[in-house]
Amino acid sequence: MIPVMALAALVFLSLYTLFIQKAMERELNEKILLVSQVHSLAVAEPLWTLNMDGLERSVQTIALHPEITCAEVLESNTLSRYSWPTDCQEVKQTDRLYTTELEFHEQPVGHLNLYYSNKPLIADLIQEVFIGALLFFLLATVAGLVAFGALKLIVGSPLSQLLRSIKSTEQGHSDTLVQWSSNDEMGTVIDAYNRMIEQSDLDTQALVVAREQAELAAETKSQFLANMSHELRTPLNAVIGITEMLREEAEDRQEDTEPHTRVAAAGRHLLGLIDNVLDFSKIEANKVDITPEPIMLQEFLEDVVQTANPLAKKNTNAIELITTNLPSIFQTDPVRLRQILLNLLANACKFTDNGNITVKVEQVEGHDVPVLQFSVTDTGIGINTEKLKSLFDEFAQADSSTTRQYGGTGLGLAISQRLCQLLGGHISVESEVGKGSTFLFKLESATQ
Ligand SMILES: Nc1ncnc2c1ncn2[C@@H]1O[C@H](COP(=O)(O)OP(=O)(O)OP(=O)(O)O)[C@@H](O)[C@H]1O
Ligand SMILES: [Mg+2]
Repeated sequence: MIPVMALAALVFLSLYTLFIQKAMERELNEKILLVSQVHSLAVAEPLWTLNMDGLERSVQTIALHPEITCAEVLESNTLSRYSWPTDCQEVKQTDRLYTTELEFHEQPVGHLNLYYSNKPLIADLIQEVFIGALLFFLLATVAGLVAFGALKLIVGSPLSQLLRSIKSTEQGHSDTLVQWSSNDEMGTVIDAYNRMIEQSDLDTQALVVAREQAELAAETKSQFLANMSHELRTPLNAVIGITEMLREEAEDRQEDTEPHTRVAAAGRHLLGLIDNVLDFSKIEANKVDITPEPIMLQEFLEDVVQTANPLAKKNTNAIELITTNLPSIFQTDPVRLRQILLNLLANACKFTDNGNITVKVEQVEGHDVPVLQFSVTDTGIGINTEKLKSLFDEFAQADSSTTRQYGGTGLGLAISQRLCQLLGGHISVESEVGKGSTFLFKLESATQ
C-alpha cells in the first residue's frame, strides 16, 4: 500500500512540475515581448537624436528587469553598439536572445537585442514545486488521518468488541455477545458471530447436562457393582466354606473328595472374577484412592512372593526373589503395589509349566528420591508380537483357547496397568513365544 502511494505522489509531483514549468516559460516569453515593445520607443528616440545620455539611461532601465541579463542597442548607419552591462559577450553563449527592430517616425534606426535567462524562473519553479509538495503532503496527511479516524470508528470499535468477546469466551464466560448492529458487512459478521456463540452456549449446556447424567450413571453403576459384589460374595463364601467342610468330612469317611474339590475351586475362581470386575469398574469410575505410606521393602516383597508360592507350586514352578541396592524404606500404596505384583505373578504361574519365575527389584536412578525397577520374568509360553499390542486392553486374552485352557477374564493386566499409572509408573513387556516373558515397571518413591 505505502509503495503504491509513494509512486502516485511521485507521478503527481512530476506532472505538477512539468505543468508549472510550461506555464512559466510562456509567461517569460510574453514578459520579454512586452518589455521590448514598451521600451523600443524610449530607446529609438535618443538613438535618432543622438542623445547618448538618454540612450544610456533607457538601456539601463531595460536591464533592471531580473530576467534580462544584457540589453544591447545596435545603430543601423554607424553600426555602433550601446549595451548594459558594458559588454553582452559573456551571456551571448548561454542566454536566449530576442531582437526588436527600432523605428522612429517610421524610419528604421537600429535594433534592440535583449538577452534573457530562465534562471530566476527555475528558482521560482523550485519554490513553487516545494510549496506544492508541502501542500500535497499536508493534504495527504490530513486525508489519511481523517480516513484512519473514520475507519477506526466504523471497523475498529466493533472489531475490538469482537476481540474482547472472543477472549472472554476463551476464558469460559458465557455471556459474551457483541452489542453492535449495522447494515454493512461488519454487522453481518457480528450477527453471525453472536448466533454462533448462542448456539455454542446451548451446546455447552446440553453437554453439561449430558455429563452430569453420565456421571450419575457411572456412580449408580459402581454403587450397583459394589452392592452386587457384596451380595454375590456372601453366598459364594458360604458355598466355598461348606464345600470345604463337606470335603473334610468325606475325607474322614475316606470317600471320593474330587467333586468337593472341584466345587470349591470353581467357587474361588468365581470369587476372583467378581473381584476383578469390581476393581475394574472402580478404576473406570475414578473411585480408587491411592494412599502412599512407608513400607519395609524387603519384608513386603518376601511376603508377596510367599503369597504367590502356592500358585507357583500348582504348575511346579519355582519363584526366586532378587533384590539389589534396595532402600530400606520406600513410600507407595502397598495395597495397590501388592495387587500389581500378584497379578503379574499369577499370570507368570498360570502360563508357565515346570519353569522358573524371577521377581527382580533394583534401585535404578534418583538420589534424592529413590526410583525402583520391578520385573517379573517367567520361562513360560510367551506372547506373540501381534498380541503384545493389545495386551493391556481390557478383556484381552491371547486367543479364545486361552480362556478355555487357563480361565480368567482378561482383566488382570488392564487393572494392573491402570493401578501402576495411578502410582506414577507404566508396565511394559518383552516376550518371545516358547521362551518366556518379562513384565517391568519403574516407580518413584512418593513424597508426602
Ligand atoms: N506371563 C504371561 N505369559 C504368557 N501370556 C501371558 C502372560 N501374562 C499375560 N498373558 C496373556 O495376556 C492375556 C491377558 O492377561 P490378563 O492377566 O489381563 O488376563 P487373564 O490372566 O487371562 O485373566 P485374569 O487375569 O482376568 O484372570 C492372557 O490371557 C494371556 O494370553
Ligand atoms: Mg491374569
